[in-house]
Amino acid sequence: MTIAKKTARLTVVGAGPGDPDLITLKGVKALRSADIVLYDALANEALLEHVPVHVPRVFVGKRRGHKPLDQDGINRLLVDSARQYGHVVRLKGGDPFVFGRGYEEMDYARRQGIGVDYVPGISSAIAVPGLAGVPVSCRGYSRSFWVMTATNSDGSLSSEVAQAAQNEATVVLLMGLAHIEAIVALFEAAGKSDLPVAVLYHGSRPDAHSVFGTVKDIVQKAQTYTPGMAGIIVLGEVAALGRQLTADGVMSSVLG
Ligand SMILES: C[S@@+](CC[C@H](N)C(=O)[O-])C[C@H]1O[C@@H](n2cnc3c(N)ncnc32)[C@H](O)[C@@H]1O
Repeated sequence: MTIAKKTARLTVVGAGPGDPDLITLKGVKALRSADIVLYDALANEALLEHVPVHVPRVFVGKRRGHKPLDQDGINRLLVDSARQYGHVVRLKGGDPFVFGRGYEEMDYARRQGIGVDYVPGISSAIAVPGLAGVPVSCRGYSRSFWVMTATNSDGSLSSEVAQAAQNEATVVLLMGLAHIEAIVALFEAAGKSDLPVAVLYHGSRPDAHSVFGTVKDIVQKAQTYTPGMAGIIVLGEVAALGRQLTADGVMSSVLG
């Protein structure tokens, strides 16, 4: 009896912000049909319970004491795995297309003749503020929101943060914890010392906690950044709303 060779293909799946219940049904179905799974540090390992027991799972993120694969290495591993095993599921934190390099990985695989698919995930950019009681837009408070990375690929502060400080929109900053002092200085220079700010750590995970303040006092209230800490900074009038829900005890998911 000959066994038919499996078709090489790649599905890039959004794992959501951390809580393993916050993946989509389509994401779970992809995990169930995987022949190999490659996953990141921000994807909750509990999601691997959906993967058949015999299927290999490969961690390709950053972990203390291990040198992570660079992006070229990950791209090659995705293609080699698809050719060797068949269906590769690439599990990424949040949504793969929100600062997740999901598009780049799909594009590389496509150019190598591998069929590709995308399963959206719930991005931390919206879900983490929401779980802390902070709506990114709210009638009477904010009519738009900017989701930005605060950090350039070389580790420096993005110049777009200064532009955002001049705007009325809610500003949602990913990868900003290491630069929080420089960020608030830009908002202070824009005359926004009293603007509400929320710093939201490890949203939707058991160790989630939130710190609320204003541009002038948030640095003193926020935790000192340590590598590996995941956090989102929200600057805007809506940031004060989370504190309100906490005070009223309305939402059980609002901590800190
Ligand atoms: C490389 S980006 C990936 C974003 C992801 N693709 C998404 O849509 O959520 C990583 C950054 O997202 C933010 N982040 C992701 N998950 C988070 C969480 N559970 N709590 C707080 N921030 C989170 C942090 O700012 C972190 O540095």
